[in-house]
Amino acid sequence: MNRSPKILVFDSGLGGLTVFRALAAQRPDADYVYAADDLGFPYGPKGEDEVTALVLAAMERLIADHAPDCVVIACNTASTLVLPHLRTGWPEMPFVGTVPAIKPAAEGSHSRLISVLATPGTVARDYTRDLIEKFAGHCEVTLVGSQKLAGLAEVYMQGESVADADIAAEITPCFVEHDGRRTDSVVLACTHYPLLLDSFKRLAPWPVRWIDPAPAIARRADHVLSERFPSHEIRDAAFDFVFTSGAAPAPRLLKTLDVLRRSIALAARPRASA
Ligand code: DGL
Repeated sequence: MNRSPKILVFDSGLGGLTVFRALAAQRPDADYVYAADDLGFPYGPKGEDEVTALVLAAMERLIADHAPDCVVIACNTASTLVLPHLRTGWPEMPFVGTVPAIKPAAEGSHSRLISVLATPGTVARDYTRDLIEKFAGHCEVTLVGSQKLAGLAEVYMQGESVADADIAAEITPCFVEHDGRRTDSVVLACTHYPLLLDSFKRLAPWPVRWIDPAPAIARRADHVLSERFPSHEIRDAAFDFVFTSGAAPAPRLLKTLDVLRRSIALAARPRASA
């Protein structure tokens, strides 16, 4: 097809920007709409029926309004639940999900102690249990359901400061030590968490591998699109940001989005001239 694909990136809030960043680096030729379901945020503590209803209602409007070629659900809490419903509801639409990166964490762990840091919803999902059974049978897996981190990441993205002690309290349960072994890999199983990665690294009791699935999701989306939309020349890609409430982003967030947009355009340049 001789036009750019339009990719809808969806999350409950701003966490999906970590996936958007990787997508834009992978497909700088695409047009993007980023949608944050601020009406539904946070998904993490909500029941499964409520999250499913929120995502389906938001998707109904977003697909009608933006007619994307592909939808990336940049949210573990939603993806571990609603992908089958979405695929039934829109059988023609390619949906790419974000699910806990348990496989690479287990494969790369030497101590065989790994942790999954996620929302309370994601740690409770059958989907997550199944991934552990399938890929991490040889590891001890600590599931850490954080009540606060996604909210702290939202606050941080609005330009406000977040206390180290609040972050440390949420990540500390990921660090397990016994029989002379200690956790060496932590799965960032909520897309909000890479936004706080610098703080995680600084506050961690010892260094670990932090596994962020964003680049793998970007490659998957590229693969899904590549037949209909082989990547073509880089131009000034469109990037729209919407809140499901219809609210306009506050000035601090607008500034952050602008920095993101510019850094992506810059990162795309060497590829354009390659
Ligand atoms: N960003 C979402 C995730 O990846 C969840 C945040 C929330 O709504 O609680 O799971």
